[in-house]
Amino acid sequence: MHGVTFLSASLLAVVLLAHCASAALSYGFPYGKTKVRGVNLGGWLVLEPWITPSLFDKTNDSRVIDEYTYGQYVPKATAQANLKAHWDSWITEQDFITIAGAGLNHVRLPVGFWAYDTSGGEPYITGQAAYVTKAVTWAKNHGIKIILDIHGAPGSQNGFDNSGRRGDPLWHKSQTNVDRTNSLMKKLTLQYANQVSVVSSIAPLNEPATYKDSAMLPVVRQYWKDSYGNTRYPYGNSTKGNTLELIHDAFQPLSYWNDFMPYPKYEGVAIDTHIYQMFHNEGVNQTDAQHIQSACNNAAELSSFTALWVIIGEWTTSPNDCAKYLNGRGKGARYDGTFPGSPRVGSCTNLTTSASNFSSSYKTLLRQMWEAQVTTFENNAQGWVYWTWKTEQAPEWSYMQGLSNGWIPTNPAERKYPNICG
Ligand SMILES: *[C@@H]1O[C@H](CO)[C@@H](O)[C@H](O)[C@H]1NC(C)=O
Ligand SMILES: *[C@@H]1O[C@H](CO)[C@@H](O)[C@H](O)[C@H]1NC(C)=O
Ligand SMILES: *[C@@H]1O[C@H](CO)[C@@H](O)[C@H](O)[C@H]1NC(C)=O
Ligand SMILES: *[C@@H]1O[C@H](CO)[C@@H](O)[C@H](O)[C@H]1NC(C)=O
Ligand SMILES: *[C@@H]1O[C@H](CO)[C@@H](O)[C@H](O)[C@H]1NC(C)=O
Repeated sequence: MHGVTFLSASLLAVVLLAHCASAALSYGFPYGKTKVRGVNLGGWLVLEPWITPSLFDKTNDSRVIDEYTYGQYVPKATAQANLKAHWDSWITEQDFITIAGAGLNHVRLPVGFWAYDTSGGEPYITGQAAYVTKAVTWAKNHGIKIILDIHGAPGSQNGFDNSGRRGDPLWHKSQTNVDRTNSLMKKLTLQYANQVSVVSSIAPLNEPATYKDSAMLPVVRQYWKDSYGNTRYPYGNSTKGNTLELIHDAFQPLSYWNDFMPYPKYEGVAIDTHIYQMFHNEGVNQTDAQHIQSACNNAAELSSFTALWVIIGEWTTSPNDCAKYLNGRGKGARYDGTFPGSPRVGSCTNLTTSASNFSSSYKTLLRQMWEAQVTTFENNAQGWVYWTWKTEQAPEWSYMQGLSNGWIPTNPAERKYPNICG
């Protein structure tokens, strides 16, 4: 022991207090004190047809609807060349410089299981893991924290194209799928446990769609707890890791998670909720004022949930679903009535594609949507991560284009509408 017998009682108390303090987690970012302000690096290491429609259009094959079918149907050499060119150019170190320059402190980096494991015989093109490594270096160089986010699991946890495979969610139906995801969590939590000052948080799984199959919920609950073990004890001994575990709400109300991982039995857990207004018919048929009011109304649920820190890990300024392929390659939009079962609200012309065609009132709405949400999320939660940094032809979703066209301020504390939420 450290010569305790020579210390006075009061000094001993100080030493013991210091010992207790050092036993608390030591995060890579002052979570709970400083608000998370970030952007998602969407459509980079996990393809999304709507973020880079050109990659899909140039396949000339309408069966290519996600990254899985990209690997399945595009001739291997072509697919490999296209993806490598995409990985090398879509996000570079310059993006991290611009992100830091916009006053942001985090990126959330979606990655699919296939970057690390195609042992199930999946046809994915691989090579993404090397870019995760690059991103960690770039983030470190520019003082940005990374939330490393497993965005796709074997079998797909939601059936969205952004899980890698569009269709039925099958992840939870096979223990092998879940075991492979647990192995990936073990690998990543150990790999980054000593780099917590850069990879400050790991998200075990994006958007498990429990609303599509109630049998998924118990599987998700168990997986969150197993992921907690891997995150908090990455070395497999009693030494704790300091990575924040960011679990998704699995499309349940936040209150559902009230007693799920109580402190202090569990520590270093935050919950991720995603807030969008355009994925239902009523959502796209709101007036500008209603869109803003809807954004402000999130304050009630966010502020009433206190069991865990809440981070809004996805949200956008876009009020509509007009972006090409947003609802999937080959699918239309609710807004203009080309999506099955959706009554037409209006024309999508000039609401997407090119910011040079945006009206000044539309740009004002985008600015107000940004301010209403940032204000709400910072006042009632631990912060936010915008979806998404960059798009090919959906400027209403692009943080980068928001900055360059002025509807997103380069100082995230700037407000044109300080009382927008009353
Ligand atoms: C794709 O199809 C178009 C029209 O049929 C054709 O002009 C083009 O050469 C095709 N491109 C490839 C890469 O096959
Ligand atoms: C646990 O393992 C890690 C990594 O090998 C090591 O640094 C640490 O000292 C170990 N902790 C204990 C309590 O043995
Ligand atoms: C949109 O909302 C307005 C006002 O409530 C309503 O009159 C209209 O029918 C709705 N349009 C659609 C396409 O649902
Ligand atoms: C801009 O608007 C004009 C006139 O409606 C249209 O012809 C053009 O295609 C639009 N450009 C883009 C990129 O949407
Ligand atoms: C789209 O915007 C252009 C200006 O860029 C304008 O000339 C055109 O009339 C607009 N089209 C519609 C349908 O609003």
